[in-house]
Amino acid sequence: MALLRSSDWSDTSPMVEGKGISMRYPQLADYQAWSELRGESRSFLSPWEPIWPADDLTRAAFRRRIKRYERDVREDQAYPFLIFRSEDGALIGGATLSNIRRGVAQACSLGYWVGERFTRQGYMTEAVSSMLPFVFETLKMHRVEAACLPNNEASKKLLRKSGFVEEGLARRYLRINGEWRDHILFAALVDDFS
Ligand SMILES: CC(C)(COP(=O)(O)OP(=O)(O)OC[C@H]1O[C@@H](n2cnc3c(N)ncnc32)[C@H](O)[C@@H]1OP(=O)(O)O)[C@@H](O)C(=O)NCCC(=O)NCCS
Repeated sequence: MALLRSSDWSDTSPMVEGKGISMRYPQLADYQAWSELRGESRSFLSPWEPIWPADDLTRAAFRRRIKRYERDVREDQAYPFLIFRSEDGALIGGATLSNIRRGVAQACSLGYWVGERFTRQGYMTEAVSSMLPFVFETLKMHRVEAACLPNNEASKKLLRKSGFVEEGLARRYLRINGEWRDHILFAALVDDFS
């Protein structure tokens, strides 16, 4: 993995590179690929995500999304990445660091998804491990958290493989697919990787 640049929104060169993948901030030009991949993967993704707004896949909503992302990065609130396959530039999925808490916490939350046709090929494992230097060295986080539904076997395996440690059960933690659901909390600390 290599961290390739810092945080210039208009620069579309990769920010993070891993084996067979690269990651950068989403751009308006990603709309077509993003909406196609999300649209075709809807039934695969929906059980694990908040309910999608009715207009979520429209160009107007994507434009608003990009504006929000840009502001989030500027204000050090969140860092959203899209993940691309290096061999052909295909969009694979996304991973976002959100809820950035500075001060005494220096912590953030990690969320991720891949398009259905890209699952079980090791892409998210590679993406998460490639992001960790960005999290710990560039953002200077002390802790990165991830929460998953107890029956999300893929996510649990991915987190354990990536060095996250299970910390416990958070009751009715997030509203997923329209219901407040218990989540297993995982975290990785900078100390685990130094
Ligand atoms: C979770 C998710 C991002 C994993 O992405 P991925 O690219 O398929 O993950 P990887 O290929 O790197 O696999 C990671 C591990 O999960 C396992 N795995 C992947 N899909 C699985 C499934 N459906 N059931 C059980 N295990 C699965 C892999 O075999 C691998 O474990 P292994 O190395 O021991 O074999 C993807 O399944 C996804 O987007 N799911 C829907 C959305 C979601 O769950 N988001 C996260 C909410 S917390």
